[in-house]
Amino acid sequence: MLEIKHMNVYAADKKIIDDLSLTMKDGEIHAIMGPNGVGKSTICKAILKCPGYEIKQGTIFYDKQDLQKLSTTDISRLGIFYISQTPTAIEGVTNAEMLRLALSARTNEKIDIFTFTKKCNEICTKIGLPTSFLHRAINDGMSGGERKKNELLHLWLLEPKCIILDEIDSGLDVDALKTVASSIAEYYEEKKPSILIITHHTQILDIIKPDFVHILSSGKIVKTGTAQLAYQVEKEGFQNQLEDKGIK
Ligand SMILES: Nc1ncnc2c1ncn2[C@@H]1O[C@H](COP(=O)(O)OP(=O)(O)O)[C@@H](O)[C@H]1O
Ligand SMILES: [Mg+2]
Repeated sequence: MLEIKHMNVYAADKKIIDDLSLTMKDGEIHAIMGPNGVGKSTICKAILKCPGYEIKQGTIFYDKQDLQKLSTTDISRLGIFYISQTPTAIEGVTNAEMLRLALSARTNEKIDIFTFTKKCNEICTKIGLPTSFLHRAINDGMSGGERKKNELLHLWLLEPKCIILDEIDSGLDVDALKTVASSIAEYYEEKKPSILIITHHTQILDIIKPDFVHILSSGKIVKTGTAQLAYQVEKEGFQNQLEDKGIK
């Protein structure tokens, strides 16, 4: 279970997240929606302990562990996995090199190269990624769609228990969006992780179906509902939802 309580997050001395509380139980899917610049990505970065984002108040616990006391590496070892809005390219390090080390760190086992390659090849086939991508530098020179598929390779291999998706639909064409979202939905059916999904659009929520939808405004959750709320937002816009709560 991921439990955020009364969290304030600052970046460059500016308060971005204000008294945010969110509890996501194992196996639950939560969506966060909100206009640009309200702090959606900042929530993800605070959970992952990204440098430059300071939690001045509040707590984040996952599986009874205080995430603020852990390094990003240890947070990842707990099984929390993040796909950022713009996955970073790392020149000079191949997917295969990084993933073999990451898998050993995640499982505390030495992974033999044959088992590793077999597993990677199976995943590539499953997600429609050429196996040559295993030997390419991480996300380097890849298109937006290829980067997201490359992140799926990492996801299926590392088998996280809690997945944070920051606008994975941005920059994807309709077909790529369907492929990426369907793969995550398939992973959900197999492994039942918890998923925090940040999006502006309902297309992805038609495939990865949320149990709860939260509307974020000025760093605060101002409304929580079921999947229905996302469709209402799409029809009426965010402003209507906020005015409805007396927020302008
Ligand atoms: N590292 C940072 N330094 C200064 N301001 C930041 C930083 N990160 C985010 N912000 C500001 O915080 C606000 C929220 O940003 P962000 O979380 O990226 O919004 P969203 O993901 O909802 O579009 C924006 O005004 C943004 O400019
Ligand atoms: Mg963002």
